[in-house]
Amino acid sequence: MESYRNTIVRYGPHRIAVNTNAALRDIYHVRANCQKSQFFTVFSHFFKTQMVMTTLDHKEHAFKRRIAAEALTSQALKQMEAGVLRNIRLFCDKMIDDPCDKTKKWNSARNMSQWCGWLVNDIMGDITFHQNWNMLTSDENRDVLEVLNQGVGGLNMMGHMPGILKLQLDKIFFRGATEGTYKYQRLTANQCNFRIEQGDKIQERDIFGSLMAAHDSETNRSLTRDELIAEAGLFVIAGSDTTGSAITATIFYLLHNEECYGRLQKEILGRFSQLEDIHAGEPLNQCQYLHACITEAMRLSPGVGGILLREVMKPGMTVDGTYFPPGTDIGVANYAIHHNEAYFPEPFLFRPTRWLHASEHQGGVTTREIQLAQSAYAPFSVGRANCVGKNLAYNEMITIVARLIFLYDMRIQPGSALGEGCPQLGHDRSKKNEFQTWDRFVSYHEGPMVEFRPR
Ligand code: HEM
Repeated sequence: MESYRNTIVRYGPHRIAVNTNAALRDIYHVRANCQKSQFFTVFSHFFKTQMVMTTLDHKEHAFKRRIAAEALTSQALKQMEAGVLRNIRLFCDKMIDDPCDKTKKWNSARNMSQWCGWLVNDIMGDITFHQNWNMLTSDENRDVLEVLNQGVGGLNMMGHMPGILKLQLDKIFFRGATEGTYKYQRLTANQCNFRIEQGDKIQERDIFGSLMAAHDSETNRSLTRDELIAEAGLFVIAGSDTTGSAITATIFYLLHNEECYGRLQKEILGRFSQLEDIHAGEPLNQCQYLHACITEAMRLSPGVGGILLREVMKPGMTVDGTYFPPGTDIGVANYAIHHNEAYFPEPFLFRPTRWLHASEHQGGVTTREIQLAQSAYAPFSVGRANCVGKNLAYNEMITIVARLIFLYDMRIQPGSALGEGCPQLGHDRSKKNEFQTWDRFVSYHEGPMVEFRPR
């Protein structure tokens, strides 16, 4: 608990973590005198080139960012919605043992970390390459997820200890992780090659098609083949693990907070009478309590919980009143600031109403309190490199959670504690009601085991 209150921590020779909302503004602001840290270049070690997330130079980043944003405009999201919904329907059917059995009995438990992971990967496969990995229906490709998570985790570690990569010690120290990353790189390259071969035979819009077709008028450039492969690989990792974590965390917190679960059920069942009316856009966007639950779950267990480092440029930079010289790597760790009680009273409590106005919602707070919370909230990061897929992620999250609530009663499998904290996991992991995640740049987690009963 104490460590969350320290506002500045030097955790490496030239690495600094700051835990204030002013730092969030000063470091990530569009005009801040810094760029992404060398840390990010580690991710391109296995791809042949930089992708938008790992590009340090501002101008080059802006070029790639324009191309990435073009693939995710609201019109593009609309055109990709059918692919998203197809997978969500299948996922909902899979929550019970026999979809034809309409008896109102509890079904065998599902491990939500796994199922949500399979769902969002199938969605990303469909909307990126038009090639679904069929993880929801077959176990053939499911090991890719473990591999992917390990691979990204390995890269994350190497980003923090770049010497390991320079001396090629990764193959000794992080053998599993390194192999995992290479396997993922091969899989992505295969999917890209498949999609390139298809060319414009595929009529429906997908992300890869948009990236292929994009031409940036400002620079008169398009992505090269290697850049395309790297970018598509990034989209799948960036878009799946994170979204899966947020959905899983939301379900975990709802089922550990009965009152919130009941209140959300009331909101969804009060607004919808037909399942197919539940999709991105209106009236789902009106469900403020649903949005608040997801926002609060991402505060407590952010999908990217660690520090997003930026390197201070010449002649240095002042962060929250303190000067830092050029070459300093500096950032705000999401998990730490999301639990800073200066912005979030009783920070470990799941309290969706901290995002809602008292004038409209029972238990809500003042506008000032909401603004203060927002100033310290960054699950999608903020500034020039914030998440370009945020709208897609929200569309998926609200639809999935609302459909589950509409269709089923849910409960934690009696006797299961998977995903919860407990003293055996160590002092900082002892809270039963906290969904346990491990930082691998994206996050690793298990459970909860959830049982479903048709309503
Ligand atoms: C809940 C879900 C998601 C979370 C929590 C999340 C989180 C983040 C964060 C924290 C960053 C910033 C990294 C940095 O500052 O260096 C980021 C960037 C990015 N995200 Fe997401 N993301 C999510 C979903 C998605 C989806 C669905 C996509 C795409 C389909 C996506 C694509 C990207 C890309 C391409 C970037 C790089 C942006 C840039 O460097 O300009 N993300 N995301």
